[in-house]
Amino acid sequence: MFFKKKRLTEIDYTRIPVHIGVIMDGNGRWAKKRGLPRSAGHQAGADTLKKIVTECNKMGIKYITVYAFSTENWKRPKDEVDFLMNLLMNYLRDAEKTLAGENVVIRTIGSRNELSEEIQQQIIKTEKFTENNTGIVMNIALNYGSREEIIHAVRGLVRDAVGGKVKLEDISEDMMSNRLYTGGIPDPDLIIRTSGEERLSNFLMWQSAYSELYFTRRLWPDFNINDLHTAIIAYQNRNRRYGGV
Ligand code: FPP
Repeated sequence: MFFKKKRLTEIDYTRIPVHIGVIMDGNGRWAKKRGLPRSAGHQAGADTLKKIVTECNKMGIKYITVYAFSTENWKRPKDEVDFLMNLLMNYLRDAEKTLAGENVVIRTIGSRNELSEEIQQQIIKTEKFTENNTGIVMNIALNYGSREEIIHAVRGLVRDAVGGKVKLEDISEDMMSNRLYTGGIPDPDLIIRTSGEERLSNFLMWQSAYSELYFTRRLWPDFNINDLHTAIIAYQNRNRRYGGV
């Protein structure tokens, strides 16, 4: 006898994803539709992010990694890069009052050296300020790119191999995972991308080997709690097999 599995229409709180990744795309198009500058789209995107992180924390999601600035985003006009950096600075400062108050742990992933001294100092301060919180861990991917991250990890492993700390044949997937900026954090169960684009764009490429990918046409500033719930239900209706049957 064959029983068709019942499709969920509501969230199953016993199977909440542990880690979700979010590619927050469509800020520019959101602004254009309203005749506003792109910066207004980024500002609205930052407000959306606060609401979504707060809801994820309430739902019991343990980690959220958000793509805020990629290693490729430096190619944007200087005005826009400056605006995004300023927005991030304010977000980190402000997070000490808002998200930290909600028990959120804030960390960043990505290469810090290229960021201004001021932002680097603020990252250290915000991370320190929130490190003892016990709620959701929010990883802000900042000057982040998977290829850069993988090269950074490989350099570390090669250094250890050359220095005799590890044998070449002993290098394992776990060692590689631990050397990534996300070391110690489980791989994402679900990656959400807004705005209708359907690609990873150099985001968590090693970590997403078995992630469920969810694409929605909603532009990031419009993405709301209801959309988040819809994505979680879609994820819970998937059949994850990890290469098995
Ligand atoms: C992509 O939209 C979005 C970004 C490159 C930046 C993401 C940043 C935020 C959501 C702002 C706040 C984040 C923090 C942590 C303060 P796009 O500009 O490529 O949009 P488009 O494809 O419609 O042009």
